[in-house]
Amino acid sequence: MTIQWFPGHMTRARRQIEEKLKLIDVAIELLDARLPSSSRNPMIYEILGNKPRLVLLNKHDLADPAVTMRWVEQLATENIKVLPIDASAGTGVQQILPRCRELMAPKFELWRKKGMQPRSIRVLIVGIPNVGKSTLINRLAGRGVTATGDRPGITKGQQWIKIGKDMELLDTPGILWPRFEDPLVGLRLAATGAIRDEILHLEEIAIFVAKVLLQRYPTVIHDRYQIETIPTDLSSTESIIQLIEAIGRKRGTVMSGGKVDVNRASDIFLRELRSGKLGRITLETP
Ligand code: G4P
Repeated sequence: MTIQWFPGHMTRARRQIEEKLKLIDVAIELLDARLPSSSRNPMIYEILGNKPRLVLLNKHDLADPAVTMRWVEQLATENIKVLPIDASAGTGVQQILPRCRELMAPKFELWRKKGMQPRSIRVLIVGIPNVGKSTLINRLAGRGVTATGDRPGITKGQQWIKIGKDMELLDTPGILWPRFEDPLVGLRLAATGAIRDEILHLEEIAIFVAKVLLQRYPTVIHDRYQIETIPTDLSSTESIIQLIEAIGRKRGTVMSGGKVDVNRASDIFLRELRSGKLGRITLETP
């Protein structure tokens, strides 16, 4: 599901999250481990205010583990609690509840001082579309429970899902919009499939990805496609297109007349990236 964001939608989405925030103790902010900065909502600090927050770097299985560690260290210096997870397989998910309890320590203490009985920790998951919110909710709940279609503007009855003995999770996540002003952010989001391909040209996204790979993971394209002539001048878009054509030839996208269908080649290349066939790749460093 991709939402076309307009200012009206953003305002409504924000209002919906603010309504949900009133009900919860801890916000879980879900980011994509392959692009932790680009998958972060630009107004997240403003929206969440001083609500205790746990940051999860999801899709860790697809991200470069060494770079994920650097992101974890970076966020830790900003005093942010952060965990890399793979919501699909469940890796790291069992750490979430203990971290939420840590974040709740001051509140528990306050309750104790006031002589109040501790109750379950109420949690909301927030994140941009496709970052894995529903997958995580289902994983935490241990069953397929999430109703899809929690779009801005559609109000629905909210339910609490009991997790373990002392956590309750809102069944509808908070949907945030990604950043749009910076074209590089748009390209990174498109590269991972977070925004619809039609918004940008496949070829443009593939050129961007090829450049990132040649810069950061220089052997990946050669190893995957057995292409000998890898361009060295990354400023030459022409030579990057030739590289994508070479990928197309390896993947059988040659049309009658011998010309490579660059659009199809780009599509295949991006699918292989998104499904992890090119290895664990992170598109931005701290
Ligand atoms: P959303 O609610 O935030 O919009 O995201 P959702 O859970 O629908 O997840 C979006 C896509 O990301 C899904 O793939 C989902 O399987 C995948 N995903 C979520 N978490 C992880 C993870 O930790 N690792 C990996 N590798 N993938 C993850 P899809 O192709 O759209 O659907 P499907 O083919 O899995 O059904």
